[in-house]
Amino acid sequence: MIDRARLERRIAELSRVGGRGTSVTRLGLSAEEQSARDLVGSWLAGRGATIRRDPAGNLFARIGGEGGAVLVGSHIDSVPDGGRFDGALGVLCAVEAVETLLEGRADLRRPIEVVAWADEEGARFGVGLFGSAAVFGRLAPGVAERRDRQGISVADALRALGERGDPALARRGAKDFTAYLELHIEQGPRLERAGLALGVVAAIVGIYHARVTMSGQADHAGATVMTSRADALVAASEVVLAVERIARARPDTVGTVGEIAVRPGAKNVVPGECVFSLDLRTSRDLDPYVHEVLASVERIAHARNVGASIDELARVPVTTLDPKLRDALRRGARSVGVEAPELTSGAGHDAQNPALAGVPTGMLFVRSTGGSHKPSEFASLDDAALGAQALANTLREIAG
Ligand code: GLV
Ligand code: MN
Ligand code: MN
Repeated sequence: MIDRARLERRIAELSRVGGRGTSVTRLGLSAEEQSARDLVGSWLAGRGATIRRDPAGNLFARIGGEGGAVLVGSHIDSVPDGGRFDGALGVLCAVEAVETLLEGRADLRRPIEVVAWADEEGARFGVGLFGSAAVFGRLAPGVAERRDRQGISVADALRALGERGDPALARRGAKDFTAYLELHIEQGPRLERAGLALGVVAAIVGIYHARVTMSGQADHAGATVMTSRADALVAASEVVLAVERIARARPDTVGTVGEIAVRPGAKNVVPGECVFSLDLRTSRDLDPYVHEVLASVERIAHARNVGASIDELARVPVTTLDPKLRDALRRGARSVGVEAPELTSGAGHDAQNPALAGVPTGMLFVRSTGGSHKPSEFASLDDAALGAQALANTLREIAG
């Protein structure tokens, strides 16, 4: 049986790493993320697990001998001023599930590896799903040279952790794993509305991330007449509205510009350059949607006499999860009294990388409230414990 008091204690303990109150800032490849890894590793080292950090900063804790392992976990980084549960709960419940199986002397035929993925959010370097992409050979080209706002590169950050600076060295074969399971908070309202604690993920949306630079002409805000301007921010603003219009016109589609910077950035200077992010997601076909948005960037840039360049950060297709593991997770949920519905995830998850690399992959959602990527994000201890128990029961079935 899940030890609720231990789970509760550890949720609090992990949230204090980079946390203040209910707010957590534990960016990818930071010292805080490393402290969180050390903490999680210490829990499982006490159980005789073999603890290893890989060249991308992922933590693996392996229990059992040779052969393809059942991999279970989630990520341990957060967005700036995020919550206590996104990613963290999946790692905490994986640890709790494994400890429960060990305490119950479950007969495990296959090894189990608990994983805490590094830098899932991509908040610091712009590229999400970093650690899992490295392991499953799906890193975007040139990612090691991407820099944070302080000019520190991914390679520098890895070297500061004692690694060699090449995340591609973390690659493992899909054949190393017989399955991947991830528990995660839902981050949306569907389970709450249905009055259910758990859901099974059927598919994860396709995601396109990019950084767009619009280059106009900086000039005097008083002396430059309106008809002879090339204002990069006005052009970018049109793109923001175009993203909204295009996303609204498509079913099951969202689009967000969440970051924007204006240069030189003074009230009396016409904006000369504007750099902004694109986050495009759909559970339908991703490529036509991306194509429509990029075409509108071109059109607006041309009409407004500014340049536009697009730095693609990620393009992850819609990911369908393994039908057999979906069934197994539904049985796991049923074993704790929940008839779990199947849901599509609007958030991206590390689970996409093993699934796209051919590892049978399943995800369990735990009801969450208060939104997500913000300090009000919340999952109750009751729901977390149910999730951990359902995960343990599923693990026993597939690793036993
Ligand atoms: C991760 O949280 C994402 O969906 O961006
Ligand atoms: Mn997450
Ligand atoms: Mn997140």
